[in-house]
Amino acid sequence: MASVSYQTRRDEIETYFDRTAADAWAALTSDAPVSRIRRTVRRGRDAMRETLLSWLPEDLTGSTLIDAGCGTGVLAIEAAQRGAEVVAVDLSPTLVNLARERFRQLDQDLDVTFLVGDMREMDLGSFDYAVAMDSLIHYDVADGVQTLQAMAEQIQRKMVFTFAPKTPLLALMHATGRLFPRGDRAPSIEPVSPARLGRQLEDAGMMQAWETGQSHRIDVGFYKSHAMELTRR
Ligand SMILES: C[S@@+](CC[C@H](N)C(=O)[O-])C[C@H]1O[C@@H](n2cnc3c(N)ncnc32)[C@H](O)[C@@H]1O
Repeated sequence: MASVSYQTRRDEIETYFDRTAADAWAALTSDAPVSRIRRTVRRGRDAMRETLLSWLPEDLTGSTLIDAGCGTGVLAIEAAQRGAEVVAVDLSPTLVNLARERFRQLDQDLDVTFLVGDMREMDLGSFDYAVAMDSLIHYDVADGVQTLQAMAEQIQRKMVFTFAPKTPLLALMHATGRLFPRGDRAPSIEPVSPARLGRQLEDAGMMQAWETGQSHRIDVGFYKSHAMELTRR
């Protein structure tokens, strides 16, 4: 049963991505011209996607993958282009519709199913891999770990995800404020150090079945995010 803090935060995130920031996300994840600041975010995000995908086998043919918090579906489509059968889930119906439309326009014979839903409550069967790029960064560490734990039950091989690195908080707040300056009702980002996250995963009992692997921080202009992998023992 999800905590009240989780549900409250999840509702804020849904409102934010579904309405307040939906247009900004549509632009950020397209080739449309964007401000200099958002260009650095785009570059950072490209580097992050490349990092996360590089931790999965190059050829994903025959593998199943869930993209948890897929947004407009960029990573889901790239994973499918590498052969994976992909299920992509997001809280925001607006972003999922956009993802579906972009996928349709791509007109490639790929296996991607886009669904609206909560990654923590998904009951979609079993997957080889889970990817959660920047979709846990707005939850506090306890809620983030519980979400990973819930997803882990359905993942057979590896989970790759990101969290917000604990860097000078002001810089991060400044960056997000500048990213969406007007009417900014963005749920705050919850930074956590890799060590604290590791302890929380340990305390949650996850490390009996999983081991941490590669860890990599991307720090490009206004984009700062830290990637981590968990592999089933
Ligand atoms: C910062 S965006 C990143 C989107 C995408 N992963 C990308 O990198 O382009 C975070 C996304 O996570 C989604 N999200 C947050 N919490 C979620 C949850 N509990 N279940 C499903 N999606 C969630 C949000 O709706 C939002 O689209």
